[in-house]
Amino acid sequence: MSAHRRMAYNRRPTLRQWKKMSGYAGRRVIARGQKTVLVKYDIPCDNPDVDGNTLLFFSDLHWQGDPVMAEDIRRFIAEHQPDEVIFGGDLVSFSCHVESALALMDEISRGHQALAVPGNWDLRRSWFSVDKWRTLLRRSGFDLLINQEKIINNIRFWGADDFKLGAPDYVPPLSEQFSVVISHNPDAVVDMEKDYDSIDLVLCGHTHAGQIRIPGLGALKTSSLYWRKFDYGHYIHEYTGTHMIVTSGLGTTGIDFRFWCKPEMVLINLCYSH
Ligand SMILES: [Fe+2]
Repeated sequence: MSAHRRMAYNRRPTLRQWKKMSGYAGRRVIARGQKTVLVKYDIPCDNPDVDGNTLLFFSDLHWQGDPVMAEDIRRFIAEHQPDEVIFGGDLVSFSCHVESALALMDEISRGHQALAVPGNWDLRRSWFSVDKWRTLLRRSGFDLLINQEKIINNIRFWGADDFKLGAPDYVPPLSEQFSVVISHNPDAVVDMEKDYDSIDLVLCGHTHAGQIRIPGLGALKTSSLYWRKFDYGHYIHEYTGTHMIVTSGLGTTGIDFRFWCKPEMVLINLCYSH
C-alpha cells in the first residue's frame, strides 16, 4: 500500500465525521445561464458581534484574462459589498498572466478588507519567492497569511500554508472568537482534527470540484488524498459543529475546460443563532 493510500485509510474515522450538507446536486447548472455563479451560504454563529457579517470567498483563479469572468467578479462585489474578501490561492498557472491577475486583485480588494492564502500553483512557481508573492499581493490590497492570523471585525482568520508544497501548522486562537480557517487544500483540514473545537468555519478550494463532472456521477478526479470526500460543497463536523465550504473555484488547470462544473464565487452570511 502506498504512503498516500495508507494515510487515507488511517484517516477513515475522521473522514466519516464530516457530513456533506449540500453538494453539486440541485445546483441547476444549465438553468442558471451565466458564466460565473455566486453561491450563497448562511452560516450560524453564536456571537452577536459578527451577526450580519458577509465574506466573499473565491479561489483557484488561475487567471487567463477572461473579460466576461472579470465583469462577473466586479458585478458580484459591487452588488453585495462584502465586509471581507478572501482569496483561497492559485492566482495564475502561467507567469504571463501575473500582471493582469494582480490588476484584477487590486480592483477586487479596493475598499475591502482582503486576505489570501497560498495555493500549490503559487508555491510551485519558482520564479517568485514567498516574500515576493507577499509583496505583490500586498500591493494589490491582499494580506497573505501563511500559518498566520489576522483579526478583522471581531473574526479571527487563520490562513494555512499549502498542504502539498508547504507545511500547514495550525495554532488555535488564544481567546474565544468566531474563528475562520482558510486553507487552499481541504486535505490540510483533516490534520487539524484535534483542534476542530476551536474552529467555526473552514474555507477551501483546490479540488475545482473535479473540473469535469459527469451528470449523476460527479467528479472523477479531485487532486485530493481523499478522492471525492471533499470534492465540493458544504460540510459539517458531526461532533464540533465546524462548518467547511469547498468551492469549485473560478479557473482551470490541465485542460482549459469545465464540464457540469461552473466557475463560482461564494458569499457567506454569518447569522446569529442562540
Ligand atoms: Fe487550483
